[in-house]
Amino acid sequence: MSAIRVLPDLLINQIAAAEVVERPASALKELLENSLDAGAGEIAVQLQQGGIKLLTVSDNGSGIAKEDLALALARHATSKIATLDDLERVASLGFRGEALASIAAVSRLALASRKVEDKHAWKIESAGGVTAPDEPAALSRGTSVEVRDLYFNTPARRKFLKTEATEFAHCEEVFKRAALSRADVGFTLQHNSRAQWRLAAQDAQNRIRAVLGDDFAAVSVMVDEQSAALRLWGMAGLPAYSRGTRDAQYFFVNHRFVRDKLVTHALREAYHDILHHDRHPAFVLFLEIDPAAVDVNVHPTKIEVRFRDARAVHQFVFHALNKALSASVVEHDASRAAPVNPFVAPAYAAQAGMNLGVAQPASFYETLFANPARPQTRTPLNDAQQEIPPLGFALAQLQGIYILAQNDKGLVIVDMHAAHERVMYEKLKNALDSGTTAMQPLLIPVTFNAEKLDVATAEEHGALLCELGFEIAPVGPNALAVRAVPVTLKDADAADLARAVLKDIREFGASRTLTERRNELLATLACHGAVCANRILSVNEMNALLREMEATERASQCNHGRPTWYQFSIADLDKLFMRGQ
Ligand SMILES: Nc1ncnc2c1ncn2[C@@H]1O[C@H](COP(=O)(O)OP(=O)(O)OP(=O)(O)O)[C@@H](O)[C@H]1O
Ligand SMILES: [Mg+2]
Repeated sequence: MSAIRVLPDLLINQIAAAEVVERPASALKELLENSLDAGAGEIAVQLQQGGIKLLTVSDNGSGIAKEDLALALARHATSKIATLDDLERVASLGFRGEALASIAAVSRLALASRKVEDKHAWKIESAGGVTAPDEPAALSRGTSVEVRDLYFNTPARRKFLKTEATEFAHCEEVFKRAALSRADVGFTLQHNSRAQWRLAAQDAQNRIRAVLGDDFAAVSVMVDEQSAALRLWGMAGLPAYSRGTRDAQYFFVNHRFVRDKLVTHALREAYHDILHHDRHPAFVLFLEIDPAAVDVNVHPTKIEVRFRDARAVHQFVFHALNKALSASVVEHDASRAAPVNPFVAPAYAAQAGMNLGVAQPASFYETLFANPARPQTRTPLNDAQQEIPPLGFALAQLQGIYILAQNDKGLVIVDMHAAHERVMYEKLKNALDSGTTAMQPLLIPVTFNAEKLDVATAEEHGALLCELGFEIAPVGPNALAVRAVPVTLKDADAADLARAVLKDIREFGASRTLTERRNELLATLACHGAVCANRILSVNEMNALLREMEATERASQCNHGRPTWYQFSIADLDKLFMRGQ
């Protein structure tokens, strides 16, 4: 082995670049962060060939003094922190003083800057880390960084770059994150001289709408919760907007985009009951926390953070989001809690989104969604029915699948099976949580053929089955009898229920059945217990279901994340039929 030696600076920077500047998008992220840290109000990005050929970021921020230009490109040189104490409460996005040095080590970089008080701008150029003396330049204000030919001097690295389209897609994603992180800053993006994005400074809600689209805004809820030390705000998509991938998930800690395991877990938990496990929610959420309570110096690209009190953050994020998502129909105006109907209601939600700040009080929404003035003759319910419940009264059943009901806004359509399943699920869960799962003994036990393993499982786990509300006993080497089921499920097929429970215990083990698998098992049972399509319900039965839905948390989403009901207001219907136009 050769002798130990200290590496030359350029090589050190190139090694660092491998971590910090993985691809054009990571260089773009660093430059955008520098512009934001410099207090820019406008940031313009220009890319050529996916950022591989050229990547320019110009801002109108504070600028860099002539004598500091060379230092800005030096490693471990930063204006953002000076002491360990500063590091521990850092509020800027950058603090390590290595981004520009790393980028400069693997590209041809030009840095031009002008402070307000300077007569003109100065520019410094560097090619693969070799810096030329600075010279005067033309720039009205702020800083412009030009990065050409990324990895021109490290061919091995360059080989890892993907196609222009792929690199551009990564750059655009980084651009969107920055744009979402700071709605008060104007952003533009050009690619191959074509304008791609032009976002004027605006409020957060309009920025979210501009970046994620009207579709997202129309099927999402506002979140704004505050505790003594924490605030979570933003917009969370309802299951109707869920996706197959995690691509529309934006979480910011003090305006820094992060992907944090703890936070992801808390968010996932909050969506757990309303989203099918292979669907992913969409959201843009901002967590505000004292900078001293979060360590941002744990990952080379700062995408992960560490919270001093991880448990408190987890709990807060979970509860804040859970509260926003589980607004029950009883507490909230029907149109607001209901998922938006595909024909008419998006216009409503869009209208709401356009005019309202994230922190608007609920009463403000109420006025927006309040009953539009209608002539007296259109009063939908007769005078005898004074108190109209939120989901109204049943009119009829449609095709054995839907319940049609009338409330003070107009027409309510309920997916009978999904709604019943939701009600059952919440009941089962509440009973189990409070240890009060009531059993319904069956007058005539239901016997069924079972595999030996199921018979053994039933024998071995009698206590667990009892806790879940079941009594299942062997009546032969290959036969089981169900003697009792949970009261909530008394009308379901007892053998089906028993098979589902035994299958779960057999596959996942008793302890997991009652912990991580529990809610999935309850969902399966609820599905078995819910009324099937084509069952004819009496008006009384339909009304009973509507009342139960009102009393059930999250009644507007079924366990699989599908909506359970829609509201069509008279105005929606008038619009459909172009009445009064
Ligand atoms: N757009 C800009 N406007 C004003 N000053 C800038 C700009 N970009 C860089 N600087 C100055 O150059 C210094 C070095 O930037 P660099 O990105 O290398 O390090 P940093 O931002 O301090 O830390 P990090 O490596 O964590 O990003 C910054 O501390 C800042 O003073
Ligand atoms: Mg930086």
